[in-house]
Amino acid sequence: MARFTLACETFAFVLLTSLLTNNLAAHRQERDRGNSNYPPLWDDVPDSLAGFVSIRNKTVVNPWNYLERMGMYKILLSVTAKYMSNFGPSNTGNVLWGLPLQHGWQFITGRLADPSNVSSCGQKFGDSLCISTRSWWSCMNYYLATIPFLGAVEAGFFEDWPFEIKILPPEEYMDKFCYTAAGCHAQNPEMMSKWTTLFQLLKKSKEFSQIKLLPEEDDIWQHLWIAHVASIEAALPKFSDRLADISAPEAEFGVSWANAVEFIAATHFPTNFNQTNTFQAFLPPRMLSAGDKAPSIPDLSKEQNRALVALDILNKGNKLTGGWCDWLLRVWRRAMCSEDGRAQGQNLLENIVVDPDRISTGIRSLLLEYIKNRNCIIINS
Ligand SMILES: *[C@@H]1O[C@H](CO)[C@@H](O)[C@H](O)[C@H]1NC(C)=O
Ligand SMILES: *[C@@H]1O[C@H](CO)[C@@H](O)[C@H](O)[C@H]1NC(C)=O
Ligand SMILES: *[C@@H]1O[C@H](CO)[C@@H](O)[C@H](O)[C@H]1NC(C)=O
Repeated sequence: MARFTLACETFAFVLLTSLLTNNLAAHRQERDRGNSNYPPLWDDVPDSLAGFVSIRNKTVVNPWNYLERMGMYKILLSVTAKYMSNFGPSNTGNVLWGLPLQHGWQFITGRLADPSNVSSCGQKFGDSLCISTRSWWSCMNYYLATIPFLGAVEAGFFEDWPFEIKILPPEEYMDKFCYTAAGCHAQNPEMMSKWTTLFQLLKKSKEFSQIKLLPEEDDIWQHLWIAHVASIEAALPKFSDRLADISAPEAEFGVSWANAVEFIAATHFPTNFNQTNTFQAFLPPRMLSAGDKAPSIPDLSKEQNRALVALDILNKGNKLTGGWCDWLLRVWRRAMCSEDGRAQGQNLLENIVVDPDRISTGIRSLLLEYIKNRNCIIINS
């Protein structure tokens, strides 16, 4: 490696290859396709505004209750279904599936509960549907649930609903969140407008071809990911204090997962129903505790252990060399600048956990894409 005078960007690829292959290429696993599951309690979740309480001409949504926060997602899936009918049968191709499925995973794995034991919010034998304002995951997810919902409201998706939609503030930490499109614009104009833009774009769109990815279809993915990343960037610094309440491995996993989303975003990863379920099976099925050390956490699968190692590498690399991740992200984004590059990137992300033997071939293909995309204009942030 050192014999060549490599450009620093190439070095990033080589480093990534050697780190990943040395750490992960232990066994070739047969592919473990995740089972396709709806989020927990899906049938109890309201799928229209009529399922919420309306008093004095106001429809009230409490995002600190699991069924109601999930209700915002279910409504979004439902009102956008007609724009995405060609992406797959029964709305399975809807680009928004990634969000409710992630939220369901957070709920079922206990991540939305009060980690400090100050209250029984979210505890199995307490108020089990409560979403705690003290949970890092709950607070981060607010920015990926309520904000998109308000974006759809602002884009006019509920124009025909006769009542005003009111988002209830939590009992504590009220100033950490926003409750109306106008309030969110005031607090974080860039983030809010990115979500509104996505929904305006959807509303304008008609039908998409299912045969070949049309430019406007890829455009939807791109806008979704741009908005997603903006939410995470807005929320991360606000809730870093919540990380002190969870174990060190869990806190590291959370932050590295949030950072990894930028890499996933650059591939315009199709977070539809099937793909998200498949990928989500690689995330830890319970909160990590103090003694957990991947890749040898006994009750986690090989893929789950590997995914934790891969996330840790990205995170540590960033900490050790200061900005390594930013630099790598720049390289990654350029490789992802073409449709071929994004397909290779999606493959690589999948192989990191399911088929590590193919990682180095994958990275070589990406390097070629990176070189080919020298003159490509990168639109993402
Ligand atoms: C609710 O809206 C209707 C129709 O606009 C109006 O007649 C009624 O007075 C309103 N009720 C309240 C409690 O504001
Ligand atoms: C998801 O999987 C189901 C069952 O295999 C299939 O019928 C459907 O077409 C898939 N949806 C998408 C969007 O690929
Ligand atoms: C919270 O309470 C449970 C049981 O009530 C206990 O096992 C656990 O150690 C407590 N956690 C903290 C952080 O106090």
